[in-house]
Parts: sequence; C-alpha cells; structure tokens
Amino acid sequence: MSRVCLPLKNVHGGTTSELPIMARIAVTDGMAPAAVAVLEKAGHEVVLGYIEKSDLLSGALDGFDAIIVRSATKLTADVIEVSQGLSVIGRAGVGVDNIDLEAAGSAGIMVVNAPNASTQSVVELTIGHLLSSVRHIPKSDRSMRQNKWEKKAMKGTELSGKCLGLIGFGRIAQGVANVAKSLGMEIHTYDPYLPPKVAKAQGAYLHKKIDSLFKTCTHISIHCNLTEETHHLVNEKRMKMMPGKKGGIVCGNHIINCARGGIVDEGALLEALEVGTIASAALDVFEIEPVPDSAPLIQHENFHGTPHIGAATLEAQHRVGIDIAQEVITALKGQKPTTLVNSKFL
Ligand code: MLT
Repeated sequence: MSRVCLPLKNVHGGTTSELPIMARIAVTDGMAPAAVAVLEKAGHEVVLGYIEKSDLLSGALDGFDAIIVRSATKLTADVIEVSQGLSVIGRAGVGVDNIDLEAAGSAGIMVVNAPNASTQSVVELTIGHLLSSVRHIPKSDRSMRQNKWEKKAMKGTELSGKCLGLIGFGRIAQGVANVAKSLGMEIHTYDPYLPPKVAKAQGAYLHKKIDSLFKTCTHISIHCNLTEETHHLVNEKRMKMMPGKKGGIVCGNHIINCARGGIVDEGALLEALEVGTIASAALDVFEIEPVPDSAPLIQHENFHGTPHIGAATLEAQHRVGIDIAQEVITALKGQKPTTLVNSKFL
C-alpha cells in the first residue's frame, strides 16, 4: 500500500516534519467491525490482533503510527519508550489507567479516549447489580441450581425510600441517580470536584465529607477514577459507619463497584461480609483482573460479580469504536481531537 504524507505537527509543536496520512493502526484488544470500517474508509491500514507485552517490548509496534487499545493491553513506560514511531494512542473506553500518560506525553504521543459512549451501559449494569443485591437474584439462582427452594431465606428489601450514596457524580453517577430516583431512592453524593449547583439540579444531597456519606447511606455505588486519593477509599473504617437501616427497616449495607478495582479494599470487604457489616457486595471491577481462581471474596454467598463488563454491550462497543476511530483519524490529520487526555497537548 502506498503511503501519502501529511504534515501532522501542528499539535506537536509546529515543526514541519511529516507523518503518513495513510497510517498503520494496530488494534490490539478488538474493535467493532463498523469502527474498523471507519478507519479503513479514511485510508488507514488496520492490523487487528492482541500483542503480548514481550513482543511490544521487542518492537512489535515498529512501523505503526497509532495503536487503539481497550484495557487488556498495558502501554507502560517501557513499552512506550520502544514505540516512539507512534503519534497517537487511542483508548477505546474511558479509563486510561493502562496507559502511562506521562511517558506518552514525553514521547510526543497524543492519547485520546472515548469517554461518553459507554455511559448508558455502565448505568444499566450498576442498576442491575443494585437490584440483584437487594433481591438476592444471583444467590437465588445459585440455590435453585442446587435444587433448593429457599423462599424464606431470599426475603429482600426494597430500594424505594433508601439512601443511595454515589461516590463521584459524573455522567455515569448522574445516570444511575436518574434511574434510582425513579425507583424512589434518595440520592446522596460525595464529589470534591463537583460544583454544588450540579448536585442541586439533580436533586442530590452533596456531602462535603466522605465519612458523612457513609454514615448516611445504606447503599453505596462507586463512580470515580482510581487515583492515589481514591485507592481503598471504601475501607473497613468507613464500611463500619454505614447505618444498616432506614426508617425502621433493617435493609443492611450494600456496596457496588462498576468503576475501577482498587477503590474498594477487597480484604476489608470480605471481612465485612463475613461479620455482616456489609449485607451484600457486587463488583464488576477488581484489584487484580482477571480475578485469581481461588479468590475467597468471589466464593462468599453474599457476593456476586461480573468480569468487568460495564461497557460490554453491542451498543456501547459500537459507539466506543466509532468515537475512538474518529478521534484517532482527527489526531492523525494533525487536528486537535476533542478527547485529548494527556496534559502535554491540552
Ligand atoms: C472503560 O474504562 O471504558 C471500562 O472500564 C471498560 C473497559 O475497560 O473496557
């Protein structure tokens, strides 16, 4: 394939050097066929297939102008260091914790993501986990598969009238809040970066201190990034603060995490399930993914989990693919993409 050249450097600092318009793009963690078609229609060559870290370190990305990853491929500093031919990294999803942004910035590589496309899917999974927790849906199913009919043991509680605490109040949390409100829940949030008027407009009570959220809410759902500040933010001390009842109903305390592993201290969560401080926990994301076979948390009867499938719907993956394809095309044209993540280019 012949490769046409286009000046790409206007976002890289105004040099006159050229990069190919007909770029080679490695797509390592899969992509919706419609999104691959968008890249190809723009004249780019798409090479699909997972690349092992050892191969990435041995120069497997030589000759590629861009790479599009989901969460499986880890673009660590050492990988970026040997992949200096790249000009763009596309993250087909929201979280960029698998990409060393600083190393990418120093290497002059733009990082773009697709932050909006999976919102609805994550909202729906969160609500699914919330309902599954309080109505014992996975637990009942496990019991029925053992030919049991444990009707009395599966008595649940309603969400209506309970306080839902949302940690972080971005797009996903606000979507969860809308559905939860329609189910009659009272919405509380803790988000130190949120303008109070946003919480007010959504009818959410904005707590100034995280502990106050835990002291108020029987149901907590996490919707923030994993940072040093949020690592193990849900810990033993805070889970013990949760009230366990509302309006005379002992509904127990419930934890949901469809955001990022590591925000919940999984060791503390298991202990809290064992002693009953926490009545149920549902996680889609884990400190170590894939979760090791023997992880005791997964085996607890009041735990249910999903394997990081928040964005795993046909609709979300279609939208994510199209969005990231368009962002990468824009970046390869030398224009400024709308979802630039690394501060060097902002
Ligand atoms: C995301 O950050 O977009 C989601 O966690 C989904 C994923 O990592 O694939």
